[in-house]
Amino acid sequence: MPRPILATIHTESLRHNLARARRAAPDARIWGVVKANAYGHGIERVWEGLRGADGFALLDLAEAERVRALGWRGPILLLEGVFEARDLELCSRLGLWHSVHHDAQIDMLAVHKTHQPHRVFLKMNSGMNRLGFAPARYRAAWTRLNALPQVDEISLMTHFSDADGPRGIAHQMQVFQEITRDLPGERTLGNSAATLLHGSDPAVRADWVRPGIAVYGSAPDFPDHDIAGWELQPAMTLSARIIGVQELAPGDTVGYGSSFTADASLRIGVVACGYADGYPRHCSTGTPVLVDGVRTRLVGRVSMDMLTVDLSQLPDAGVGSEVTLWGRAAGGQMLAIDEVARAGGTVGYELMCALAQRVPVVVD
Ligand SMILES: Cc1ncc(COP(=O)(O)O)c(C=O)c1O
Repeated sequence: MPRPILATIHTESLRHNLARARRAAPDARIWGVVKANAYGHGIERVWEGLRGADGFALLDLAEAERVRALGWRGPILLLEGVFEARDLELCSRLGLWHSVHHDAQIDMLAVHKTHQPHRVFLKMNSGMNRLGFAPARYRAAWTRLNALPQVDEISLMTHFSDADGPRGIAHQMQVFQEITRDLPGERTLGNSAATLLHGSDPAVRADWVRPGIAVYGSAPDFPDHDIAGWELQPAMTLSARIIGVQELAPGDTVGYGSSFTADASLRIGVVACGYADGYPRHCSTGTPVLVDGVRTRLVGRVSMDMLTVDLSQLPDAGVGSEVTLWGRAAGGQMLAIDEVARAGGTVGYELMCALAQRVPVVVD
């Protein structure tokens, strides 16, 4: 018998979420952001659900090769561009579009031998101070790229630091628009938060949007909105089963460090899921979990292969009962990954990406 833990990727939910993102930015084309192995879901596993995107955005050349191997002939964008000169050969061979965010990438292009000029996305650092040309240097980079025979179309790109928070995007939009106003080329600006919150705002109009996390069923601005509020559905369920039950007397403690003490008699279930499966160790007593579709709480510390849950309100639960760590229970009840992430002091992104190799995965 395999250990009773399973991750399920929900094809229909991916499709639904992609359609939801489209509705938020009806005039834009959509990059399906599949970096980090499709946010931990697996590129091949999300393929059926996301193949309706207009293009795929990612970082690793090996991942781009996997998308081409799936038969995708449309656009693929390398969000961080090339890392070394020989990467351009693969771009030529696979027809990859790539971001250009520093001078060395232009130097590499200038000496690259290709019959097929490249489409590039010139990235501006409009305030996030991660990748991109400073606004004052952006137009010079554009002029340099525009003079290269290795380049055909130049698209314009930036990325927002606070689309999900109170600071918003106006300050970066102002910089981006001021510098690019009269430049030709398509624009790609926003991630999930910007797409959901501002996608239909004419002032933030873009030719391409780049929603990642929303498509995987996590609310980018949780807890301001949850997935139900955004009409999104979990794309990944992590479920396991109860493999043991303990009856606690008042004063009994649970697990390493005895971090939980029962103040009354309490039945607890021991679940076949721990931090070595990707469940966050920082989740403490009170973190929500579903047992047979009923919401209860984690008690005590998460250990490597097991965690413990309160069964006091679940008299029928026992060994073999279904536990939903996040996602959708067999009966349809939902537990948003965002709630679990928050209890562990992190975000849904990290939980998805951290799903451990040892967890078997099925696609439904
Ligand atoms: C350049 C770029 N575009 C789009 C995204 C997608 O962002 P999100 O998953 O928040 O929608 C990311 C993710 O970090 C990114 O780095």
